[in-house]
This record gives sequence, structure tokens and C-alpha cells, in this order.
Amino acid sequence: MLDEKMKKAVPSVTGRFTPVTTTHAKGSWFHTEDGQKWLDMAVGIAVVNTGHGHPRVIEAVKAQLDKIVHAQANMFYNPTVVEAANKILEVVPGEMDNVMFVNSGAEACENAVKLAKQATRRPVTIAFKGAFHGRTHLCMALTCSKAVYRGYYEPLPAGIYHARYAYPYRTPASEDPVDYAISDLRKVITTECWPDDVASIIIEPIQGEGGFIVPPDEYFKEVRKIADEIGALLIIDEIQAGFGRTGTWFCHEHYGVTADIVTVAKGVASGFPLSAVVSRSEYFDKCKPGTMGGTYGGNAVACAAAIATIDAIREEEMAANAERQGEKLRGFFAKMAETYPQIGEVRGKGLMDAIEIVKPGTREPDPAATKAFAAEVVKRQVLILTCGMYDNVARFLPPLNISDDEMDHAFNVFEDAAKAAWGS
Ligand SMILES: Cc1ncc(COP(=O)(O)O)c(C=O)c1O
Repeated sequence: MLDEKMKKAVPSVTGRFTPVTTTHAKGSWFHTEDGQKWLDMAVGIAVVNTGHGHPRVIEAVKAQLDKIVHAQANMFYNPTVVEAANKILEVVPGEMDNVMFVNSGAEACENAVKLAKQATRRPVTIAFKGAFHGRTHLCMALTCSKAVYRGYYEPLPAGIYHARYAYPYRTPASEDPVDYAISDLRKVITTECWPDDVASIIIEPIQGEGGFIVPPDEYFKEVRKIADEIGALLIIDEIQAGFGRTGTWFCHEHYGVTADIVTVAKGVASGFPLSAVVSRSEYFDKCKPGTMGGTYGGNAVACAAAIATIDAIREEEMAANAERQGEKLRGFFAKMAETYPQIGEVRGKGLMDAIEIVKPGTREPDPAATKAFAAEVVKRQVLILTCGMYDNVARFLPPLNISDDEMDHAFNVFEDAAKAAWGS
């Protein structure tokens, strides 16, 4: 057992959602050092989408370890890295033909913004209120979901302006959610900067940290239209919503739009650190060699994991399972909402689902009731996370191949937890 003194070597600044120490995991379950078995409905924040230790991924990784680990991208081509890039191009929508590998979600967003700036030779980036794109300095400036991601770090990089995201549940009743958000975007690009200074608009297809906010399809079509009108590149950040999570390979497929640049990370490699900027050679070719990159981007072992991950998602039809299980999950909570007025809204796509928790009879966010519910769930050894600009959203991110029995187990726990947290 890890003693408290040893644990002190790991700083608390990153935050920790549970006090447990995990030693191993398989499928939808992880185990603790004191012999507990937990159902994982967070999977490393939407990372281990194929379930822990998917045999196909583990086998591919072991085989790659015997070949080469670090085929540094500035030195060589490597067949595994090139194959991973081509596999990703098979599944990302749009006319994409280039994949630049980096290591984390933030690094992918950072490089997507750099690509747009260099390809357009324009200085400005438009992001959205409620957005989360990571924790580097540039990504903190793009991010707008909570003060903890920005406070203490000012000044942040300039040239970034934020517009309203379409948030139907929190749009004033007198307004249309799409018009309300789009009119603000138009206002930002005409009153806070010159439209022809805008290099890119960066947007999540469902806002993740911001509260699992699902915008109307029409909103995305309008954002695409505005990017085209002003000659800006549209960056869609699929880091949390991508790789089968919402029942399609990528979430923006639901909206019938394509991006100019897509950022991927998390689910791409089932837990191995890999991320990528996916775009077109017409943009990458405008950039001078050496102006982007890094030592570790496109690690061969992580790339082997990505190839196996894509094969497993495809062959085991995990996106279809995500769609089916997600419908069940939202149906379950819609029924619970009839008993518990604390559930203000149930929303999501596929297995990227959430409930927004409010004071009964109002839309006033209730972070205390959210914390109480999550704590009761965690007490029963099911791991869920919270999110939201007001800390009042419980989010559910099980593996895409979760079974019916595992979902039923979670539903029983959610019922008991709601009763314990909210009474009745
Ligand atoms: C939509 C989105 N973009 C970017 C990031 C940043 O990814 P990373 O934590 O790997 O830097 C996240 C992480 O949660 C995310 O959800």
C-alpha cells in the first residue's frame, strides 16, 4: 500500500477527484490497491474509449516495443507512424490529407491555431465562452469555462476574442438559441477585431468542460458559413467528443459540416499519449519547415495503439453501441427527472451525456446538489465526473463498449445515489 509520505511526492495542484489508488484495470472496471472493483464511467476523461487494456491495443503495443519506440519525426519516416496518419485520414471527415502528430490535447489546439495563423498570415483567433482547449498559455487564453483555468496566469496571449456559444437551456426564453449566439459572433468579429484579421474560429462540437452543452445543428452550419464569409479557417476541437464517443466517428458529423482543421487526442490511442492536428496539405504547405513540431510527436508505440484503437472501434462497432447505450442512459435520466426536479436538463449524444442540476422549480445552478450526487455515486464505487461553468453538471463517459449489465449496474447506483443525495 502507498503510504501518505510517499504520496506527497505527487503535488496536489493537478486536483484529484477520488482518494483511491488504482493498481490495474480491465474493460469497464478498475481495481484499487485495497481490493475494490469500480465501474469506470470516466475512462481517464474520455481517453480509454475501447475499455481498459483492450487486447488488440495491448498486443499491437507489445509488438511495436520490439521494433522501435522513438522514431523521432525530424529524423525519419516510420511505417507505424505513417500508417497511423493514414488510418486517421480514413475516419476524419472532410478533404483532409495531412496529420501532424503531437502529444496532448493542448498541444494539438496550440498547433492548430499556429497552422491557421501561418497559412492565412492573419493574427486573430475567435473562441467561445464556456470553451476548454487545454492548459498551456495559449490554450488558457482560448479557454473560458472557469476562472481556475485562467486566474493567476494573466497576462495571457492576446489576439483572442470570445463569442457566445449556443446553449439552449440557458438562452433567455424570449430568444432563439441559434440567433442569440450567432448575432453575438457577428458582433465580436465586427466590433472587437477586423473580420479579415481572423485566422481561425476554434470550436468544440459539444462543449466539454463547459458543461456538455449540445448546440443545435443549425448553429454549427451558421458558424461554418461565417468562417467562409470572412475567409477564416474553422478548427473543430474533437479532443473529447471524437473517436466514436457520440455515436459517429466525429461529433461534427451530426451537424452536416466539415472543418478545415480537426484536433484529436484522448480516445485516439486508448490511453497512450498521442494527439494530432488533421488538416489539408494546402495549409500545411504554406508553413515553413521547423516552425511547428516537437521532440516526441508521433511516438511509434502510441501510433501502434492508435492503429489498433481505430480497428477495434470499427470492427467491434463501438460507435453503434455508444449510440444505443447513450439513448438508454438519457432515457433513464429523463425518467428520473420526473421524480427529481433537481435534474433540470438531460443532454448529450452517444456516450457523451450529462445532467444539469438546478434548484427545484428554477434554472438556478446547484453545485452543492451536484457535488452531493457525485459523492454518493463515487461512494458506491462508480466513477463519474462533474463539469460545467457553474459546477452543476454530472457527466457520464463510459467506455464505448460498455455492456447492458454494466449499464444496469450504473443505473441502480444512480437511483440509490439520487435518493441519498436529494431525498424522496
Ligand atoms: C475539448 C478539449 N480540448 C482540449 C483539451 C486538452 O487536452 P489535454 O488535457 O490533453 O491537454 C481537452 C481536455 O479535456 C478537451 O476536452
